[in-house]
Amino acid sequence: RIHSIAVIPGDGIGKEVVPEGLRVLEAAAKRYGFELKAEEHAFASCDYYLKHGAMMPEDWKERVSGRDAIFFGAVGWPDTVPDHISLWGSLIQFRREFDQYVNLRPVRLMPGVPSPLAGRQPGDIDFYVVRENTEGEYSSIGGRMFPGTEREVVIQETVMSRVGVDRILAYAFDLARSRPKKHLTSATKSNGISITMPYWDERVEAMAANYPDVRWDKYHIDILVAHFVLNPDRFDVVVGSNLFGDILSDLGPACTGTIGIAPSGNINPEGRFPSLFEPVHGSAPDIAGQALANPVGQIWSAAMMLEHLGETEAAAGIVAAIETVLAEPSLRTRDLGGRASTSECGRAVAEALS
Ligand code: NAI
Ligand code: MG
Repeated sequence: RIHSIAVIPGDGIGKEVVPEGLRVLEAAAKRYGFELKAEEHAFASCDYYLKHGAMMPEDWKERVSGRDAIFFGAVGWPDTVPDHISLWGSLIQFRREFDQYVNLRPVRLMPGVPSPLAGRQPGDIDFYVVRENTEGEYSSIGGRMFPGTEREVVIQETVMSRVGVDRILAYAFDLARSRPKKHLTSATKSNGISITMPYWDERVEAMAANYPDVRWDKYHIDILVAHFVLNPDRFDVVVGSNLFGDILSDLGPACTGTIGIAPSGNINPEGRFPSLFEPVHGSAPDIAGQALANPVGQIWSAAMMLEHLGETEAAAGIVAAIETVLAEPSLRTRDLGGRASTSECGRAVAEALS
């Protein structure tokens, strides 16, 4: 098995944690018997922007589209380039052009990571948030009338297409079916949002008929966020529209500790385009260049990428190695109260794997 990936470290700590991710990927390749062809790119970074006046070259799509996946660090350096330019000129291009309509985030309490929720142990919290990533509330249809006057009115439409809703639901039900609990929760608000959300509910019910082996329920978003905090053990796979999924996919990882360990996937499940795997965190200018960054979010993203590429065993091996390392206080980085450097932590995961 050969997997070819485009590697884009980006800015700030992206350039420090991506090498640790690659180190662990190489160890996984050796241990599990696959080959990894990695090509690194300097674009999609603010340094590139300062040299070329754009975040990416014009032919960026051709340069990465033949790859099986994109392994991404973080982008943004607000001192030199405004965030809306760096983000829209890079990450958002990938998500749109490559139709990465699934945003996937595991929420899992790891050993050694104090949960802000009292009394929770590793094993208690272990679920996925599946966010619709292309339509819904984040449309640019709308406008402002009578700007600056007392008659000012603003409107922004929500767009839900049958194809768009059904494909995210099918992904989420498939994921639920693949897990031991086989349970899906849908985020809704059909009591208040009376056109789009009843439609969402209707499609969930229709999709559920194809998955008789999956138990499912739905919660209104307001009470669902409360259950994330009060009863996180209730969930297995949680699916939501673009806005609800956005909120849930930040709240979930926050319930399980530091932002330094949370991974994510921007996925085109059919594989027509490459999917992109990146840590949830950004470029962290406040700690960049000091070897303080926690590489676990990047390494865990590598595990998600391997899972996507069909290397299920290697993916599970990496997650287990992360758990081994996090359980050992001397191997943790500063955000987890430890004193290990970025590369000491990364090397420890690679060793635990081999
Ligand atoms: P951030 O995630 O970079 O940092 C927030 C806080 O968390 C900081 O105090 C930082 O030191 C800490 N932190 C983040 N990752 C860490 C790690 N691996 N280990 C230890 N501590 C860690 O978010 P912020 O400060 O809002 O944004 C900084 C830049 O990153 C901006 O330019 C922003 O646009 C960009 N950004 C990029 C993202 C991406 O590439 N997907 C996502 C979020 C922000
Ligand atoms: Mg968010």
